[in-house]
Amino acid sequence: MTSLQDKLLALKQQGIKDIEKSADLKELNDIRVHLLGKKGPMTEILHGMRDLAKEERPAVGSFANKVRDNLTETLEQRKQELEAAKIEHQLAQEALDVTLPGTPVRSGAHHVIMQITETLEAIFLGMGFQVVSGYEVEEEKYNFEKLNIPKNHPARDMQDTFYINNDILMRTHMSPDEARELEKHDFSQGPLKMISPGRVYRRDTDDATHSHQFFQMEGQYIGKHVTMADLKGTLTFAMRKLFGADREIRFRPSYFPFTEPSVEVDISCFNCDGSGCEVCKQSGWIEVLGAGMTHPNVLKAAGVDPDVYGGFAFGLGIDRFAMLKYGINDIRQFYQNDVRFLRQFKQA
Ligand code: DAH
Repeated sequence: MTSLQDKLLALKQQGIKDIEKSADLKELNDIRVHLLGKKGPMTEILHGMRDLAKEERPAVGSFANKVRDNLTETLEQRKQELEAAKIEHQLAQEALDVTLPGTPVRSGAHHVIMQITETLEAIFLGMGFQVVSGYEVEEEKYNFEKLNIPKNHPARDMQDTFYINNDILMRTHMSPDEARELEKHDFSQGPLKMISPGRVYRRDTDDATHSHQFFQMEGQYIGKHVTMADLKGTLTFAMRKLFGADREIRFRPSYFPFTEPSVEVDISCFNCDGSGCEVCKQSGWIEVLGAGMTHPNVLKAAGVDPDVYGGFAFGLGIDRFAMLKYGINDIRQFYQNDVRFLRQFKQA
């Protein structure tokens, strides 16, 4: 062995050691550049070949090639190892522990007023009524005139009104939607059967039973040959769905400008079954809504011929229904948005 071969062997052994010790790709690259680069020991050794005898050169040359191949191969192997380790490390860092307990998100629920509204809608949709909606800011003529409540009519006092200007007001009841739908309806296509739930406004001082804004639902069925028996049947069905299958219904004569005759509707008390309790104030009956046969003037004002078409209308307080159903004794609680109160009515 020539001394050049000794040097090459030593270079190879040290090189392999260094490569295997290298801790990352940067360090490995530095080693490669050092070992095999132009100014590195390999080049230097090969320069020494000039001083060798001609016949010695091929053996040393091929030995040098082997050493270079060896080192290159070891470098490549180590490079692959380090790259794999780098990916492993990255994956380990990015791993998610899916077994960690989550942070619960509290889910919301529909407001109790909305729940009663949806229940009422489902009941009346089932009887072939459609759900409509009008305007909270309403024209005076729809809120009053077209409902047979002319100016200076005493019934206007029953509904203290927030006026925007002389002609525009905050609707005081849901009945304006009756007039609007009557005007729009094409009776050649069949009768008009509609309900309209919504928010109404009154210039009232808030207390346990009054609120300056609350919810009502209007209902109306106009067609040919619609009778008071239809009114009674429709309301009996709806009240039994809402307050229990055993409810009886009774009509008391009353007055509303938009209906003639007008009635106030009571149901037998769902709390005591009619024997008398606190809920029904010992009477056995609970007043739930106002209703009647639509006044011919209302039909006329909408361009509907009262000699051909007629029917019934009714109006109920959704807040009042919620209070009755859940034994709530202060209407203001619906509007204070205290989640401790509202959460009690969360449906599964
Ligand atoms: N609009 C009435 C009110 O706000 C409720 C009402 C009563 C509506 C009788 C009707 C009805 O359609 O026939 O007090």
